[in-house]
Amino acid sequence: EATMIGISDLSLATGHHVLDLAHLAQANGTDPAKYRVGLGQDEMSVLAPDEDVVTLAAAAALPVVQRHGTDRIRTLLVATESGVDQSKSVGVWVHRLLGLPSSVRTVELKQACYGGAAALQAALGIVARDPRQQVLVVATDVARYDVETAAEPTQGAGAVAMLVEADPALVAIDPVSGVHTSDVDDFWRPNDHASAVVDGRLSVSAYLDALTGAWDDYRAQGGHPIEDIARFCYHQPFTRMATKAHRKLAQHTGVDLDEVLLEPTTRYNRRLGNSYTASLWAALTALLDDPTDLTGERIALFSYGSGAVGELITGVVRDGYRAHLRADDNARSLDERKPVDLATYRALHAAAGARGSEDHDVPVSTSAPFRFAGVRGLARRYEGGA
Ligand code: CAA
Repeated sequence: EATMIGISDLSLATGHHVLDLAHLAQANGTDPAKYRVGLGQDEMSVLAPDEDVVTLAAAAALPVVQRHGTDRIRTLLVATESGVDQSKSVGVWVHRLLGLPSSVRTVELKQACYGGAAALQAALGIVARDPRQQVLVVATDVARYDVETAAEPTQGAGAVAMLVEADPALVAIDPVSGVHTSDVDDFWRPNDHASAVVDGRLSVSAYLDALTGAWDDYRAQGGHPIEDIARFCYHQPFTRMATKAHRKLAQHTGVDLDEVLLEPTTRYNRRLGNSYTASLWAALTALLDDPTDLTGERIALFSYGSGAVGELITGVVRDGYRAHLRADDNARSLDERKPVDLATYRALHAAAGARGSEDHDVPVSTSAPFRFAGVRGLARRYEGGA
């Protein structure tokens, strides 16, 4: 029998600040229900000036290495859309901040919001080859659009770290998955742009096309019939997108799918905002952290990255998984954010977009365990924080 491989730990981290989207609605003269109900978003995380995808990733992964040690981790995979260097991977800084041993391979994966699923698949392959090894996977992003656009309320930030190993404690991933690639200009970010370029309507339809394409491939590869799947976690650029996706899949398969069961998967993302590569894993974390017992249930995970790549993955929740959750810590990372008003958020947004690669020091503001200290000799510097 093939070794079961999957996820043994999930840990969430997010930014120091939070913006209540009601403030943004008020400033735009928009009905707050448009964001709360129409998009399914209540808040978005906003980074302090001394936070970025490196500090978020390291903060998410720290509890994982504290719990499991580093002896068996020989690979660190970091997925991000918002990397901070054209060449050096985010993971190499994360590796140092976490104090991982030198006998680790480290790399960054990129395909918009899809990179986290690609990293998970690579990790499963590495563990299949040598089941003694563990792989640390971190999905980390800050979603950034121009202000005063339709996309502004769909920003956010967050990171999810996962430990992938044989005989996993949380979810055993099925060997079959469904994939879909198609060249679409729905959302992208040229190398000299701090904010994404997006065609909102096209991005929604490209997402739904990738979903049905990945589903059909999943079935063609021998994946489970839809009736075998108890719960669905979707990439959530805004949480209403999960409802649109679920309806599309119901229509495509001709099977009635319960929309109420999506609600627990949206609880963290409604408050984080979009976290690109991390969003799907934040949805899975929120689902497992919900008090409902899912032991033995099969869960579908749909990852979408504009440009565009989709993947439909399934897995089964393991016996005894609840003892390995971090529900209180995950909720605390959201609850402890410091609220900002609209003017402060807009000032932070402008400053982050203007941040160059010339030498500068960044004063301390975050209370996270790691911080971005500034640039010296064109090189970014990170240090332990509070
Ligand atoms: N009360 C309740 N609902 C309201 C409302 C009110 N007062 N006013 C409007 N709404 C509803 C609308 O009816 C609409 O609902 P439906 O989608 O069910 O029709 C919803 O609010 C959104 O309103 P609009 O259709 O007017 O859309 P918008 O112009 O505000 O733009 C958006 C929405 C296109 C998602 C935009 O926010 C955007 O471009 N976001 C960034 C791109 C994005 O997230 N794309 C998602 C797919 S791509 C992807 O997944 C990758 C990724 O992470 C980026």
